[in-house]
Amino acid sequence: MSAELPSENGSFLRFPKGFLWGVSTAAHQVEGGNDNQWSDWEKAGHIRSLDACGSACDWWISTDVDFDLAQKLGINSLRLSVEWSRIEPQENCFSESALQRYRRMLEDLHRRGIQPSVCLHHFTNPRWFEQKGAFLSAESTALFERFTSRVVEALGHLCKLWITFNEPNVYATLGYVTGEFPPGQKGKVDRALKVMSSMARAHARAYKVIHEFQRETQVGWAQHYMVFHPVQSGLDRMVAGIQSLIFNEGFFQLIEHGHFKLPFSLVGGSAPEAEGAIDFVGLNVYNRFHVDFDLKSVGQLFGRVYVPTDVPQGDSGVEKPYGEAFPGTIRAAVERAARFHKPIYIMENGVPDATDRVRPWLLINALKEVHSLIKDGHDIRGYFHWTLTDNFEWAEGWWLRFGLIALDPKTQQRTVRGSGRLYGEIANNNGFTKELVEKYSQAPPQK
Ligand code: BGC
Repeated sequence: MSAELPSENGSFLRFPKGFLWGVSTAAHQVEGGNDNQWSDWEKAGHIRSLDACGSACDWWISTDVDFDLAQKLGINSLRLSVEWSRIEPQENCFSESALQRYRRMLEDLHRRGIQPSVCLHHFTNPRWFEQKGAFLSAESTALFERFTSRVVEALGHLCKLWITFNEPNVYATLGYVTGEFPPGQKGKVDRALKVMSSMARAHARAYKVIHEFQRETQVGWAQHYMVFHPVQSGLDRMVAGIQSLIFNEGFFQLIEHGHFKLPFSLVGGSAPEAEGAIDFVGLNVYNRFHVDFDLKSVGQLFGRVYVPTDVPQGDSGVEKPYGEAFPGTIRAAVERAARFHKPIYIMENGVPDATDRVRPWLLINALKEVHSLIKDGHDIRGYFHWTLTDNFEWAEGWWLRFGLIALDPKTQQRTVRGSGRLYGEIANNNGFTKELVEKYSQAPPQK
C-alpha cells in the first residue's frame, strides 16, 4: 500500500490521513544517571565540551513535563529507546523495575494519544557487553536476541513500531574509524564492517523474535544517510562516490542481499539471515557535505570533506561545523531507500540551533520535500523531528541544542521554542499552507 495524498485545494499541503507527526529521542540523551560505556567515555574526558550527561532531561525520574508539552503541541508519535544497561545491568540479570519504568512511559504516551515507537539500541552498551568486545564478540547476536525477547515480552503489547538499531553505520564508523565514539578506535575499517554485519545478524534475530510475539507489528532500523556532494566532476566525483559508498551503502547492502558487495565483502563478514528482514526503512537525515579530491586527505581516502561557509548551517560543534542543513538529503535518502519497496519513515531530521535562526526554515523545507516525495508516489508514513527537548549530544555534550523545546539542564526549566509551536501547528493541521512555504523560501541568515 502506498501513502496517498488527499486531493489538494491548491494552497494547502495536506498530508495523508494517519501520517505520524513525531519526535525522536534516545535513552542516554534524555534519561540521566545512566551507567554504561558512554558514561565511562564521558568520565574519561572524551566529550569535546568536557560535559557529562548528568541528569539530562531527567526522564528516568519523570517524563510528565515533556510528555505533557508534546501532547499540548499536537505531536502524535514519540520515538524513544530503551537502555540495555538498565534492563540487563549484569549479564543475564534482568531488572523488572527497569522494564516496569519503560512500561509506564509507554502507557503514559498512549494515555496522551501519542503512539510510541521503541528503539532497542541507540549507541549505548552495558559495560559487561562492551568488555566482551561489543558487536565484535561472537556472542553478541545471541545476547542481543535474549535482551530483545525480554523487552518484547514486557513492552510488546504497547508498541507497534520497532527500531532494532539506530544508525549502525554511525556507531561503527565513529567507534572504529574516526574514534569519536567509544571504543575510540581509529582507521579500523575492517572492524567497522564486521561490527555492521554482526549488527545486521542481531537485527535479523530481533526481527524474528518481535514477529513471533506480535505478527502485526512493524520492525525496521534507522539508517543515517548523508549526501557527499562533489565540488566538480572528475576526481571530486570519484572520491565523493567512495565516501558515500563507505558511509551510506554498507548496511543497506546487508539488508538487501544478506552480504556486502565487493570490496567490503572481502573483510566485512556477512548476514544471510538479514536479507529482506524489514517491514519499513527508517531514515535519519540531516546533512550534506562537500567533497573534493585532496592528496593530503589520506585518512579519508583522498576526499576532503568540508562545509562551505556560505551554506545554511545551524550552530557549530566545539571543533568543527555540524554540517550543512540540507533538506534535499531527504530526497536522496528516500530515493535510495525506495529500492526496498517498503514503507519509509523519516525517523530523524533536525538542526542544532539554540536561537531558532534556522529550524523553522528547515522544518518547512524538509516537510515540503516529504510532501513532494509522497506526491511522487513514495510511501512515507511519518516524520519524526530530532528532538523534543534539548538533550545531551554525544561527543559534543550540551553544546548543541536540537530541541523544539529549550532546556536549561541545571534548573530543568523548559521553554517551548517558536519552532516547537510551528511544528505543533503543522501536526494539528496535518499540513501547512503555501504561504508558509513562500515565507521560508529564502535561506536563513548566517550566524
Ligand atoms: C543521532 C542522535 C543525535 C543526532 C544529532 C543522530 O545521528 O541518532 O542521537 O543526537 O544525530 O546529532
